Amino acid sequence: MNIWEKLSQAGPISVLAPMEGVTDICFRQVIAKAGRPDLFFTEFTNVSSYASEKGRANALERLEIAPTDAPIIAQIWGKNPDHFAEITSALKDLGFSGVDLNFGCPDRHVNKAGGGAAMIRTPELAVNCFRNAVEHSNGLPVSIKTRLGFTYVDEYKEWLPTLLQEHPAALTIHLRTRKEMSKVPAHYELIPDIIRLKNEISPKTKLLINGDISNHIQGEKLVNDNPGLDGYMIGRGIFQNPYCFTNHQPTREELTELLYAHLDFFDKNNEKHSNTATYSFEPLKHYFKIYVKDFPGASELRQRLMECHSTSEARDTINQYTS
Ligand SMILES: Cc1cc2nc3c(=O)[nH]c(=O)nc-3n(C[C@H](O)[C@H](O)[C@H](O)COP(=O)(O)O)c2cc1C
Repeated sequence: MNIWEKLSQAGPISVLAPMEGVTDICFRQVIAKAGRPDLFFTEFTNVSSYASEKGRANALERLEIAPTDAPIIAQIWGKNPDHFAEITSALKDLGFSGVDLNFGCPDRHVNKAGGGAAMIRTPELAVNCFRNAVEHSNGLPVSIKTRLGFTYVDEYKEWLPTLLQEHPAALTIHLRTRKEMSKVPAHYELIPDIIRLKNEISPKTKLLINGDISNHIQGEKLVNDNPGLDGYMIGRGIFQNPYCFTNHQPTREELTELLYAHLDFFDKNNEKHSNTATYSFEPLKHYFKIYVKDFPGASELRQRLMECHSTSEARDTINQYTS
């Protein structure tokens, strides 16, 4: 039984959505501490980076996982079918429970390179990449994450059947088009028709929805209200509450503790890579708003943290505000 089948036996499958620059090895450990989803995804890794001598080390770093990550799916993107095969063949040995193909990313650079949502416009290529991944997956389940269409919502009527005819292990649909980015509400009204298509073409594929789901209660309700859905994925909801996969509303102290944990995971990861690279402290600043909010003086503390240059400076700054 593959991981999707196994997890779906216990009810709606909860997944933390892959988010580039967010769901890295450090942040996933933070979420595992707060309350993990059933399944983690990595940030997406470019298949051609992995296939190149120059990019391989960086791609492998992106695919590093922590013991608390399991089960975890590696998400990959690109447009070269041979490169899909090459990276997929390595994933089982790296500890992954599955591989997911990104056919939905709206980023201009990714689309210009022919990947992500650009695949919606090159369905034959998308199918070739998928088939190559399946052929070289060493038995790992291959899933797909996509959008309804590139420009028009109605594109889903052709695009989703094209994918379902390949019988992916799971299909996650971000219920918007590429053109809509995240600017309009997710099209929940299409869920019944998408379930119908899935049941007609590939009843064994697990179907997950994504878009505007803030917490596990909302996700479970959507799945329970729409028999035929198997799970849900939460992305930006994690910024509102890192405990969104649980019923817990964290206190200020608990959020501060998570921030300390994040700084520790960051330092540990840096130590591990001290021979190759030192990760910049700068990207850590994106996370401060998750932990430092909703109390008197929060915005001042955030401002002070934004002026820090290292984890030790950040710790000192937090200490000054909490002691
Ligand atoms: C900062 C950021 C980075 C993202 N990176 C990825 C990615 O690497 N792979 C992917 O499939 N989707 C990516 N997404 C899209 C999310 O996985 C998700 O589909 C989208 O945010 C909608 O879900 P939400 O409304 O729950 O946030 C990203 C979204 C954000 C906000």
